[in-house]
Parts: sequence; C-alpha cells; structure tokens
Amino acid sequence: MPENEWDPDDYDEGHGFVAEYGADVVGLLAPQPGERVLDLGCGTGTLTAAIADSGVDVVGIDAAESMVEQARESYPDLTFEVADAREYEPNGAFDAVFSNAALHWVPDEDHDAVLAMVDEALADGGRFVAELGGRGNVSRVENAVRAELADRGYDADSPWYFPSVGEYAPRLERHGLEVTEAVLFDRPTELEGGESGLREWVEMFGDELLDGVSEAERTAILDGVEGRLRPDLYDPETGRWTADYRRLRFVARKA
Ligand code: BEZ
Repeated sequence: MPENEWDPDDYDEGHGFVAEYGADVVGLLAPQPGERVLDLGCGTGTLTAAIADSGVDVVGIDAAESMVEQARESYPDLTFEVADAREYEPNGAFDAVFSNAALHWVPDEDHDAVLAMVDEALADGGRFVAELGGRGNVSRVENAVRAELADRGYDADSPWYFPSVGEYAPRLERHGLEVTEAVLFDRPTELEGGESGLREWVEMFGDELLDGVSEAERTAILDGVEGRLRPDLYDPETGRWTADYRRLRFVARKA
C-alpha cells in the first residue's frame, strides 16, 4: 500500500506527535476488556499497545515490514502482521477495526477493497473507528512543494488521498457501515525538529513528491519551500513550524 520509505526510528523519535494525537482516536474507540480489535496501519505499534492496555486482544497490521519489525521488537507480547489492508484475510470476527493516520496512504481507487475487508472483519454490530487526513490536509505544504517542483520542470502525483465527509460517508455506507459520527476539522500541528522540522517532515512524509529529483535540487526545493512558508507557518519565538493538518474522523457500525 504505502510506497513511502519508512524509517521506524525516525518516525518514532522525530514525529511522535502522530501517536500523541492518535491517543484521542483511541479514546473514541473506547476499547473494552475482552474485545478483539484490528489496528489497520499500526506503524510502530504505539497505539496498538495503548489499545491492548485496556485488556483487549489486538492484532496490528501494516504494509511496511520495517514498521512491523520495530513494533514486534517494542511489544513482543502483541501480535503484528505485515499485510496490505486491501488483501488482508481476517482471521475470525473483530469487535472493532481501528485506524489512525494510515488510510490516506491508500489510493482513492483502492478504498473499496479496504472497506470490503473491514466489513468482512467486523462482527455484526462491530465498529470502525478511524482518523485520516481530510480534504485540504497539508495543502499549503503540498502546494509549496509543487510550486518549487514546477519551477524546475517537475510534476508529481499526489501520494495521498484526503477525502471530505460527503465523499467518504457514502463509501462507508455502500459497504454496509452505518456512519454514526463523521467530522472534518482543522488541526494545526506543531512539527518536531525546530528550525529543520518542516524539511524533515517533507522528507519523511512527502518523499514520493520528490522522486526523481537530484540531491542538489532536493536541497534547493526544500530551501524554497521553507522560504515560501516561513512567513505563515514558522514561529520565530518558539523556533517551530506548524503544518496545516485537517483530520477526517469517523465512527461507523456494521449493521
Ligand atoms: C497526516 O497524518 O495527515 C499525514 C501524514 C503524512 C502525510 C500526509 C498527511
């Protein structure tokens, strides 16, 4: 599923806010002791472990082998599998499927395969609780990268899918998942890494946008992106960048 190159140490140490904000989504899941939960796109397993702490039997899946290796090393008592959500064959019924900051890596045209899998995985009455980047997510950052690419004759497909509520809720419903909550909201997100936080974010999460760009041009593009965004997204007092995150968060139940 994700084509991004993932460095699990860098992901945990330099971008820990992903799991910190994800704690809210675990709160929305409200895992109950004795439940079975599937964590779709579990990354390095931080939230899988938080879910397991509620006395839940949880299985974490992720398409990136490096992430799953790190998750297994950090949480040897938990179950993690390398699996593409589009092709995953669930073993038994789950009370809930959970996903944080992963579904936006699935291309638009592949969401029906993922939602069919979620429907198959859920027991009757089971819930799908998820958050992903929503319409307009990181658009200022993406537009700045695209403008710098265009100045050098490059173009790039978007590596992400950021749907609106109006677009995603009907997709859930078509797969037998009744939407009980869905909200799109701005969540400006302070990046880690101080002065170099924005370029580190682009290199970690937007690497595919820079595919085929030479090392020298990559540096020039990142300098240019910083120049374009500094007036609005950099705070000289704190020395930190804030990215224009927007989240789509929903709860849907299998009828
Ligand atoms: C997000 O969590 O919204 C996100 C992460 C990486 C790239 C794009 C969006």
